[in-house]
Amino acid sequence: SGSLTVGQFAEKIGRPSTDIIKKLMALGVMATKNQDLDKDTIELLAGDYGVAVEEEVIVDEADFEADGLEIDEKTAVIRPPVVTIMGHVDHGKTTLLDSIRHTKVTAGEAGGITQHIGAYQVVHEGKRITFLDTPGHAAFTTMRARGAEITDITVLVVAADDGVMPQTIEAIHHARAAKVPIIVAVNKIDKPNANPDHVMQELSEQGLVPEDWGGDTIFVKISAKQGIGIDDLLEMILLVAEVEEFKANPDKLARGAVIEAQLDKGKGPIATLLVQNGTLNVGDPIVVGSTFGRVRAMVNDLGRRVKKAGPSTPVEITGLNNVPLAGDQFIVFADEKKARQIGEIRAERALITERKETTTKVSLDDLFEK
Ligand code: GTP
Ligand code: MG
Repeated sequence: SGSLTVGQFAEKIGRPSTDIIKKLMALGVMATKNQDLDKDTIELLAGDYGVAVEEEVIVDEADFEADGLEIDEKTAVIRPPVVTIMGHVDHGKTTLLDSIRHTKVTAGEAGGITQHIGAYQVVHEGKRITFLDTPGHAAFTTMRARGAEITDITVLVVAADDGVMPQTIEAIHHARAAKVPIIVAVNKIDKPNANPDHVMQELSEQGLVPEDWGGDTIFVKISAKQGIGIDDLLEMILLVAEVEEFKANPDKLARGAVIEAQLDKGKGPIATLLVQNGTLNVGDPIVVGSTFGRVRAMVNDLGRRVKKAGPSTPVEITGLNNVPLAGDQFIVFADEKKARQIGEIRAERALITERKETTTKVSLDDLFEK
């Protein structure tokens, strides 16, 4: 809790400072107006004046920064890698995501209806991999702009009939800026005019040299459309994950990021969260960006209700008072009162920022109108 001077305390309870100083003298404490009061003295004084002291909630913004996701090595366990797929327009990102989901999710979950929650998990050789279903570029730009760092591995899709294009280069830059390892998926190898060697050549010029050519970048030749090379790609993802050793502490209170969120007419605000550390439980008091609440219900990527979600698991939750933004961070608090207080303070701050932005826009418009 924050400190309070004699003067500030006097102001809060609506009494002159001299009153407080006199009272303190009677208690054997010599004080001046600018002197800090310790917690015990504040409680003592408050008791004397018949006012209730509510402990002030300090919102530590550092709590909400991505690098606050510290891992406690002692209790850390391996968690599934979180993968985003990036690449130039039409090079086959969506087809690849669908292909992975179909071969791995639908096949494994006979009759299971997969619902779109912006992310999904597959199991390959007994190991789980989380894929973000959002366009990779958005995952990087929106998320990172809001301070979230959620991707562990980037799969860079390059069409073998088209080669390296502007957004291919952009994707490389995003991944490098975030220090995320890149696996290259040379796609559309089924096409008659496919030229994988040309793609390897072009990417080598960008510093992504294939292992076959003495470099350290993993290249996998695939056809997302025909389902060729998908297992190889998943295997390479697991290999990189094994080397990188992504870890988390399932025993901690959960924290992570918002993948997407919207307002549902019946259910209210719905948010897809990626748990980055800890375990999220139904009933947990939670602050999500500038919103807060209690996790009312959780649904996994297969549309099934779950009671808990461990590290790297995407889940859709209800129970928030408002709709958060993609890339917002979430934190679970042990007690609901604190979650509410922090949520309210953050909502207030967000409103102030929003107002400032609106005011600036209005005055700019005014200028142009003249
Ligand atoms: P944007 O989301 O617009 O950036 O495109 P995308 O990268 O998601 O590409 P998408 O998966 O929509 O594929 C673009 C086109 O390429 C579609 O017509 C796909 O059917 C086709 N395509 C994707 N992968 C393959 C492949 O392996 N082989 C062939 N022949 N066609 C493919
Ligand atoms: Mg697409």
